[in-house]
Amino acid sequence: MKRTLSLLALAAGVVFTATMAGAQAAHTYVGAKACGMCHKTEKQGGQFGIWEKTKHAQAYATLTTQAANDIAKAKGITTPAANSPACLKCHAIVGDAKADVKNGVQCEMCHGPGSDYKSLTVMKDKDRAVAAGLKVYKDNAAIEKQCRTCHNEKSPTAKEFKFAERWAKIRHPVPKKP
Ligand code: HEC
Ligand code: HEC
Ligand code: HEC
Ligand code: HEC
Repeated sequence: MKRTLSLLALAAGVVFTATMAGAQAAHTYVGAKACGMCHKTEKQGGQFGIWEKTKHAQAYATLTTQAANDIAKAKGITTPAANSPACLKCHAIVGDAKADVKNGVQCEMCHGPGSDYKSLTVMKDKDRAVAAGLKVYKDNAAIEKQCRTCHNEKSPTAKEFKFAERWAKIRHPVPKKP
């Protein structure tokens, strides 16, 4: 890995050094719509359209309901649920204006904040994308672990999390090339 990096550094010189410096600064969220600009065609796998139809896209809206406010109140929360960091942390991206909070559980909550990997040149090169903040998962166990950072007993409405069933409802693969 180190050797590859230094070879690349030699090849790309100053530009590469600047990219690495950028990668070390905190990555920020760009929001599902920015990812959707490229990840919406059938050929790509239509990830944006699939996500839009999942409950994840509605997770903020859920917090604006009376049911949510009742749950929050029962937990001693004095603000509406949709303003409470204790609820928002699993239901939406907060604190980055580009990633509209209303879009709920967006791409980057699973894939990592995208400011530094979303450009086409970086995205096309998986190693560079990962170096710039893209999270990848080596197997289903790693994916399930990520799901369980939210799907756990700290959720006031937690239901049993059966990974295979849940994953089947939200997965959005790139179609295999024939
Ligand atoms: C400018 C277009 C563009 C934008 C914007 C973009 N992507 Fe990509 N993305 C691509 C391309 C092209 C690939 C490579 C696809 C392939 O190999 O078939 C890719 C690949 C990926 C992969 C697969 C990586 C792998 O190989 O395992 C993920 C995950 C991903 N993008 C997520 C995102 C997320 C999340 C965002 C928003 C933060 C985003 N992309 C924004 C073009 C884009
Ligand atoms: C950032 C937190 C977060 C992560 C990570 C997360 N989820 Fe969710 N998920 C939620 C929230 C919040 C809801 C409830 C949305 C609503 O009903 O408004 C939800 C709802 C769902 C639903 C809809 C309920 C149902 O069974 O029909 C499915 C399916 C689901 N998640 C699957 C997954 C899978 C699979 C993963 C891992 C790949 C995952 N989630 C990761 C927060 C998360
Ligand atoms: C640890 C993460 C987490 C926290 C914190 C959290 N939620 Fe959720 N919430 C979830 C997940 C995951 C789901 C989807 C439940 C499922 O399908 O198992 C969900 C679903 C819901 C639902 C829909 C219930 C249903 O049965 O469809 C409501 C309402 C809700 N949450 C309200 C709240 C409120 C109000 C708070 C703050 C007091 C809160 N949540 C805090 C993760 C969380
Ligand atoms: C709840 C978590 C979650 C959300 C939300 C989510 N993804 Fe993913 N996505 C995953 C996981 C897990 C994988 C499988 C990763 C792997 O196999 O390495 C994946 C795979 C992908 C892939 C690669 C598929 C392939 O076959 O190689 C792309 C592209 C992608 N996601 C884009 C997006 C985009 C764009 C959004 C938002 C519109 C999004 N994802 C929303 C968890 C999520």
